[in-house]
Amino acid sequence: MTNKDLQLRSQAYEEVEKYKDQVESDYHRLQYHLMAPVGLLNDPNGFIQFKGVYHLFYQWNPFNTGHGAKFWGHYASSDLVNWTHDEIALTPSDWFDKNGCYSGSAVEADGKMKLFYTGNVKDEEGNRETYQCLAESEDGFHFEKKGVVVNLPEGYTPHFRDPKVWQHEGLWYMIVGAQSMDLQGKAALLSSKDLNDWRCLGDITGSHSEQLGDFGYMWECPDLFRLEDKEVLVVSPQGLEPEGMLYNNVYQSGYFVGKLNYETAKMEHGEFIELDRGFEFYAPQTTVDEKGRRLMFAWMGVPDQDEDKQPTIEYKWVHAMTLPRELVLKGEKLYQKPPEELKQLRKNGVIHTGVEISEESISFADVNGDVVELVVEMKDHAAESFEISIRNEARLIYDFNEQTLTLERNSYAKQGTEKRQCQLSELKELRIFLDTSSIEVFVNEGEEVFTARIFPSQNDKELLFKAENGTTICTVKKWDLL
Ligand code: FRU
Repeated sequence: MTNKDLQLRSQAYEEVEKYKDQVESDYHRLQYHLMAPVGLLNDPNGFIQFKGVYHLFYQWNPFNTGHGAKFWGHYASSDLVNWTHDEIALTPSDWFDKNGCYSGSAVEADGKMKLFYTGNVKDEEGNRETYQCLAESEDGFHFEKKGVVVNLPEGYTPHFRDPKVWQHEGLWYMIVGAQSMDLQGKAALLSSKDLNDWRCLGDITGSHSEQLGDFGYMWECPDLFRLEDKEVLVVSPQGLEPEGMLYNNVYQSGYFVGKLNYETAKMEHGEFIELDRGFEFYAPQTTVDEKGRRLMFAWMGVPDQDEDKQPTIEYKWVHAMTLPRELVLKGEKLYQKPPEELKQLRKNGVIHTGVEISEESISFADVNGDVVELVVEMKDHAAESFEISIRNEARLIYDFNEQTLTLERNSYAKQGTEKRQCQLSELKELRIFLDTSSIEVFVNEGEEVFTARIFPSQNDKELLFKAENGTTICTVKKWDLL
């Protein structure tokens, strides 16, 4: 470790110590989601199961609640539920990453964990340089930087970052979020035999490239993997305009499903589908675990989206990770489900069957709380809409006529409410994970997911149910979590 590295580490740990009590005194500090101990967390990085242990690194600015020269923070777990917060993995201590060890990924090779990340460098005038770098570890906890393995290839602006590496038929591939010289978002594909020498194969282009010609000015955090016999290309494009219910966050995250030709980098693919229908979701990253599951984490935040208005900032921390999700491909659509392991969190289960819900809002004495899982199974309905109100802070509304599902919340950034919606032809089940300041709604076993931060009052634990112009019959289950 260099002196600079040691110095940055001790400064970061000092911040953690200094603000520990203040951070922990925040009621909205989450109970079963991953957060930074102080400062700002953003993208999940280097998600991998290595020698049996899940590792999740994260973009971390320990020094304040804004963005800056990022560190890689580190969590590890043997079951996706109980996590330890481990030693800092990477600090921005070298000439090639001095303005941030930006996002990247992990692979296992030669029995080692290898991290690929973007070294972000800015000169005095603020001009950006970008280097794709390698760091290695024997044990998954202590890393040695190996330096730059990829310089900026021709044809791209310095907005070239977030390498995701994987192996396919004996070769290594890297996909990098990029911007072409005419300022279009791209995903660049590179290949290597040994993880050291990389060759750029060009951008992934395909059947919809005409339409995609104008699909945002920058693609961040790409990921590419095979599910069933198809490729899924996940990207976080910047610069899409809202279209009705779509693209209402400042930046989006979604995927294309298709077939990639690894030699030509051409991909025949379908439409872009947003991964999440809620407010805070960005920069997802996946890995495949020893059980063969494709698992995904995402940042429960969006860059530039009222980040500076988050109420936790006064307690010196901001943002969190989503829950992990297991991805399953059904036809051309990804279903996202909470992994089985999360059931370990369940305590004090209650169940109400054959509940009739109509115009008069009802609550149940034992169905309320702030850190809970709620499952509502729809059995029958003759109503026009069905609504669950969550702690007077958010409402989920299904409109049976319009076939839309809406998540409405009290805005933490401005006066009044705001909503996100999606089309849903039938509502069968809602599985809702509430934490002190977050909501994740898995609809119809993962057909759609809505994720959002909400900031209810500590005293309000009420969950209310109602239906309009008719009755809905459902089963309601609830567990406290932890
Ligand atoms: C996405 C992103 C990445 C970058 C990182 C910096 O949120 O902007 O493109 O590597 O965050 O923290």
